[in-house]
Amino acid sequence: MDIDSGLPIGQEKARTVQKMFDQIAPRYDFVNRVMTFRLDVRWRKKTVKALLLPPASTVVDLACGTGDFCCELEKAGINPLGFDFSIGMLHASRSTSPLAQADVLQLPIQNGVIDGATCGFALRNLTELPAFFQEVSRVLKKGGRIGFLDVAEPENRFLNWGHHLYFDRIVPKVGALFSDKSAYSYLPKSFSYLPPYQEITEMLENAGFKNVKRQLFAPGSVQLFSGEKR
Ligand SMILES: C[S@@+](CC[C@H](N)C(=O)[O-])C[C@H]1O[C@@H](n2cnc3c(N)ncnc32)[C@H](O)[C@@H]1O
Repeated sequence: MDIDSGLPIGQEKARTVQKMFDQIAPRYDFVNRVMTFRLDVRWRKKTVKALLLPPASTVVDLACGTGDFCCELEKAGINPLGFDFSIGMLHASRSTSPLAQADVLQLPIQNGVIDGATCGFALRNLTELPAFFQEVSRVLKKGGRIGFLDVAEPENRFLNWGHHLYFDRIVPKVGALFSDKSAYSYLPKSFSYLPPYQEITEMLENAGFKNVKRQLFAPGSVQLFSGEKR
């Protein structure tokens, strides 16, 4: 347990996250669409576009959850493979892509065989970001592309106030109404796990990625990291 934030860390965090997603899996997609006003679909489309990969490429979607990214990748003619450690999320999937239960910190994939990797809204749920980036780098071919989406804190003070009002007060109520109150109260707290974007960029570069770029969506509430394996 991290004493400052009261949030679990290490293996306790992994167990808590896995159990929480198993519980909320049946209504996860529905609550996501309500909470983001369906914008999550648009952000995933933009991420797939930012991969700049041709059809028939093979892309791993890491911490794939219910497979939303896999569906978008398929629409672009890409061959996705999804991995997640929550069996509940995998069972709730409507994607027709191959999905498997695995810890994304230890992928069951050989070195240097994959064209690209996506990850949606899971960076802050992982226990070790540098180790995750190293693992992605290991399985990608040279020139392999990444597109990692997650939440962000708007820098503008007014937007930041609105962002906190929405995530700290409204999202837990929406979650309680349609799903699980404690899981959706964890969501705004989980923002504090995410390092500043400069640190994420540095971690990606240290893991072997170049041309790392950050794009912001939903005025500064969502960020996309893209890049290429050196
Ligand atoms: C917020 S959900 C995101 C799901 C999906 N990517 C999306 O865009 O909707 C976070 C997911 O990360 C998964 N996860 C967290 N840590 C993981 C790990 N170490 N290995 C595999 N999956 C993990 C959880 O089980 C959960 O499905």
